[in-house]
Amino acid sequence: MWLLDTWAIDILSVSSAAEEPYAILSHVWDNLLGEDTFQDIHDLRKDIRQETSHGGDRTSSSAWQDPRFRKKTRDFCAFAHAQGHRYVWMDTCCINRSDTAELSDAINAMYEWYAQADVCYAFLWDVTSMEDPRMKLSTFRRAQWFTRSWTLQELIAPRNVVFLSKRWEVLGTKESLVDLVEEITAIPADILLHRTPLDSISVARRMSWAAPRRATLVEDEAYSLMGLFGVSMPAIYGVGRQAFIRLQQQIFARTPDHSIFAWGGILEWESITHARWELPAARTQKRPEPQLFAGSPVEFGRSSGTVSAIGVETLAARIGVLEGSALAPGTASLALTDVGVRARLPLLRFSVHERRTGYSRLYYLGILACEDEARRLLALVLLDHGSGEFSVDRLWQFRTLYRDWEVRVVALPVSTILDAGALALGDFQILQSPSRTLPALAQVIT
Ligand SMILES: *[C@@H]1O[C@H](CO)[C@@H](O)[C@H](O)[C@H]1NC(C)=O
Repeated sequence: MWLLDTWAIDILSVSSAAEEPYAILSHVWDNLLGEDTFQDIHDLRKDIRQETSHGGDRTSSSAWQDPRFRKKTRDFCAFAHAQGHRYVWMDTCCINRSDTAELSDAINAMYEWYAQADVCYAFLWDVTSMEDPRMKLSTFRRAQWFTRSWTLQELIAPRNVVFLSKRWEVLGTKESLVDLVEEITAIPADILLHRTPLDSISVARRMSWAAPRRATLVEDEAYSLMGLFGVSMPAIYGVGRQAFIRLQQQIFARTPDHSIFAWGGILEWESITHARWELPAARTQKRPEPQLFAGSPVEFGRSSGTVSAIGVETLAARIGVLEGSALAPGTASLALTDVGVRARLPLLRFSVHERRTGYSRLYYLGILACEDEARRLLALVLLDHGSGEFSVDRLWQFRTLYRDWEVRVVALPVSTILDAGALALGDFQILQSPSRTLPALAQVIT
């Protein structure tokens, strides 16, 4: 990675974030006017050095004031210089993006770069200093900066974040505006201010912070989250949504937190038992197959913010004894496989009756080691394909209400589980998707 030297028009190659102190920029890329790239900086620097002999002396203003640099580069260098920072880092021009290995390394190290910076300046190009940021409908609340994927880690990772208006005026800091930032982003103040470790927050809840955010490249919606989960993987472009599935696999391999599967809508058990139930008329509708791992962070937007992980020991303690055989600690488990996960979970059988056709379909609830705010356990809706293979299924009846939300998780009070009786411990495989013929609807249990 590279640092810009604000004393001279110079770039410094560094191998780690600890080498020199620096200020870092967090901003939204300007796709209209463009940004100075590493190549731009490299070429211009050569030209300017030939024209003048710009030494490395400490000057009263930043050296990067040549009008051939873009305004943001000039402004950031000038601002940082005035604040006493010799070195600055900006993601536009401090990564040699022609070097795919450097780019991938940089993306993996990005969280660390923001965490290690002396200060992170968040430049909000669409925010004015002429108003109270806490005001209803303030430009601060509506800043584009809060809607982008990369700025999530850029907000969380650094200890010090200073918010700057479109004219580079100080609006406040992460600390002074923490109540407002918490309100806008749904990230708890204790996380924003590093009083609570990130690991203490469930994977589902961390994902829910990313749900309303977008990136220009769909792969970045995955890569921008690596740091938040402490995982790394090669940042490859052109793979599309597959990047997000790979990310979840990496996260699950590192942190086997069952809440990663608690996305989509969550349905209360009572709604099933008293269901005005309707199965889909045909499986031929143009909908993607139900999946185990989510296709996009958006899927975590509906209810995942309320989900906590409880660990398999707690699950075992809550459910207690299963049909005479104790669900000993550690016996409920999920482990990654090539096609999904290998599961050992408490299973609850239930059937759903479809009024129009008179058919019923047999389902299972695979009880996960996570709970909602009301401390109800969460379970995945599963279909049995035979030979120990299951797939996740979605429940459809809220289709119009929830639009595209898949309801594939059910919330059950522990008492319901204990009363249900038909609880068994199952060893089975949950497939990422049921790309095979689904069992016919003819499993009639009327
Ligand atoms: C940037 O990367 C390209 C491609 O690997 C390389 O040819 C070029 O020398 C690099 N530039 C610098 C200044 O290292």
